Amino acid sequence: MFLQTKKTKEMRKSIFILAVFGLLIANTACNRDKNNPGYAFFPDMAYSTAYETYTPNPVFSDGKTMRMPAEGTVARDHMPYPYKAKSFDDQVKAGQELHNPFQKSPEILAEGKALYNIFCISCHGVAGKGDGHLYTSKLFPAKPTSLVEPYVQNKPDGEIYHIITLGSISGLMAAHGSQILPDERWKIILYVRELAK
Ligand code: HEC
Repeated sequence: MFLQTKKTKEMRKSIFILAVFGLLIANTACNRDKNNPGYAFFPDMAYSTAYETYTPNPVFSDGKTMRMPAEGTVARDHMPYPYKAKSFDDQVKAGQELHNPFQKSPEILAEGKALYNIFCISCHGVAGKGDGHLYTSKLFPAKPTSLVEPYVQNKPDGEIYHIITLGSISGLMAAHGSQILPDERWKIILYVRELAK
């Protein structure tokens, strides 16, 4: 009984000493000065020497810090487009392989119309007949194709999508892929179908 209490007392004492010691160590790790973080354990790991993006780099064989993305890397929200511009074969292939993910509804057609009126109307005209203001005012020299005649209407959606994305084969109509999002292109196509009715 006596021995036990003595032991517990000793234990309490050592716990107390340990706690004080721990607090002291913890205290030295802290610092009131916010601009000085105090001592760091392995400072070279906490503050590694980073190379600036455009600075030379002795570590890589080409001496550059900025790395090329790994092969096959696709940027976020970017859809790879495998068909080439100004290639009849690729245009036809796009027509066979790409399909319109949308179906016409009053909402989709309204969106398609709004987008057509922003991106196509200036050349292809209100009714899609190829008589847009840019052409009739002679500001744009090449005659825009009528979108409501069988020549365009007989093309599958994917082919028109390809023309919007990369332009016409002759290059007279420029690529619109950088201005118009993929979904928007499909909606425009549904509206162009509607124009022909
Ligand atoms: C700056 C004027 C211009 C704008 C804007 C324009 N086009 Fe064209 N488009 C043309 C011209 C010019 C042609 C004829 C090109 C040719 O014969 O190569 C053409 C041809 C086309 C063709 C037929 C291509 C072929 O294979 O013969 C389609 C389809 C077409 N345009 C759709 C559109 C759609 C849809 C839009 C809107 C997203 C649009 N265009 C915007 C000028 C324009």
